Amino acid sequence: MKSAPVGALALSVKCNNYHWPIRMVKGLEPLQLAVLVSGRGSNLKAILDAVTGGALDVSVVGVFSDRQEPPAFQWARQQGIPVNSIIPEQNESRVDYDLRLAREIRTVCPEIVALAGFMRVLTPAFLDLFSGRVVNIHPALLPAFRGLDAQARAVAAGVRFSGCTVHFVDSGTDTGPIILQSVVPVDQHDDEDTLATRILAKEHKTYPAALQLLAEGRLQIREQRVLIDWSGRRPRLPRDSVLEWQEIKDSNQDIQNRGGSHSEQ
Ligand code: GRF
Repeated sequence: MKSAPVGALALSVKCNNYHWPIRMVKGLEPLQLAVLVSGRGSNLKAILDAVTGGALDVSVVGVFSDRQEPPAFQWARQQGIPVNSIIPEQNESRVDYDLRLAREIRTVCPEIVALAGFMRVLTPAFLDLFSGRVVNIHPALLPAFRGLDAQARAVAAGVRFSGCTVHFVDSGTDTGPIILQSVVPVDQHDDEDTLATRILAKEHKTYPAALQLLAEGRLQIREQRVLIDWSGRRPRLPRDSVLEWQEIKDSNQDIQNRGGSHSEQ
């Protein structure tokens, strides 16, 4: 059975109650994106810079946080993007908080919700409302080093390579289907901070690239795997992603040559 691509042309222009816009083909409109942040917001800034620079067909329609005034809000404010702090209340259950957060997010009608340093694990109550539409960036090559302190644990484990992963979010911690990864070599003199800095530079290219694939309607989730449709014109990815693009495209071609073309499934 052919499943609908995630991203591209909003079928329902109006988003109210629980009527959710679904993209089926490459959209004429930019992908409507909500971003959830808790802190510094360098990934939010990278996304906004990519939009401003014309490398990302996205419109950031709202930035949400579980903190009162995270540094990340400044990047949104500079561009007149609405920000909204949803502060957890004392004794509020995780589900109640998530439902409150979801209600606020729905007021801006995003097609995709991007976590960018959002320091809460979302419950299935939230994810069910945004099924297959929540993405995250993690500072390691998943499935290695899930959870917190990924860079420190990579250094401690002595791995030669780490990197970052953009993935769909499921109810586990950093367990959802992988969209894109970028590799960063680990130097033997690296500590947590030096490695984190180099990984972060890759994150700032990889997240916009993954979002652009979503905006172009090129992604399908098949069980745990994300299939990328490379047909038609070459995707407009940031320059640093070209290598990854080529490698993925080549392996995709291999699969097709072996008779496993995903477009036929
Ligand atoms: C990044 O390292 C990201 O991978 C992780 O949280 C950090 C957020 O950094 N999920 P920033 O707030 O985007 O600067």
